[in-house]
Amino acid sequence: MSNRTFTMIKPDATAKGYTGAILDMIIKAGFTVKAMKWTKLSTEQAGLFYDIHRERPFFGELVDFMSSGPIVAAVLEKDNAVADFRKLIGATNPAQAEEGTIRKLYAASVGENAVHGSDSDENAAIESDFFFSRLERF
Ligand code: RTP
Ligand code: MG
Repeated sequence: MSNRTFTMIKPDATAKGYTGAILDMIIKAGFTVKAMKWTKLSTEQAGLFYDIHRERPFFGELVDFMSSGPIVAAVLEKDNAVADFRKLIGATNPAQAEEGTIRKLYAASVGENAVHGSDSDENAAIESDFFFSRLERF
C-alpha cells in the first residue's frame, strides 16, 4: 500500500477556474499536499511525461492539450494514495465516471479530463521526480 501519489490539474480545468474547487475536493478527501507548483509544460516536456503513450493514436492531441496552458502539479500523501486518488478522480472518460468524482464534476471529454492521477506506486515516484526536487517536498 502506497502513501504517495502525483497529480496534475490539467489545462482545461485551470482555464475554466476549477483549480480551487478541485484542490478543495482533494484536501477534503484526506490528501495532504507534500509539494505543489503552478507551471506550464512545453510540448517536449508533455511528450516526455506521457512517453508511455507515444505510440497511441491520441498522443499528438494529448501533448498539444497538456502544453496548451498552465497546470498545477502536486505530490499528495494519504494511506493507499494511488488507488484512493484514482477513485476520487473517476474514469478517464467523464461520461463513465461515477457521480461525485472530480472528472464527473469538472471534465468535458476523454481528452480534456481535468486531472491526472498516477496509476502505480512506481509511476507516482517517477512523475513526482519529473516535477520536484527533494528540496521542494515538505
Ligand atoms: P491520466 O494518466 O491523465 O491520469 O489519465 P488516465 O490514466 O485515466 O488515462 P490514460 O490511459 O493514462 O491516458 C492518458 C490521457 O490521455 C488522454 N486520452 N485521450 N482520445 C482518447 O481516446 C484518449 N485516451 C486517453 C486523456 O487525457 C487521458 O487522461
Ligand atoms: Mg494514466
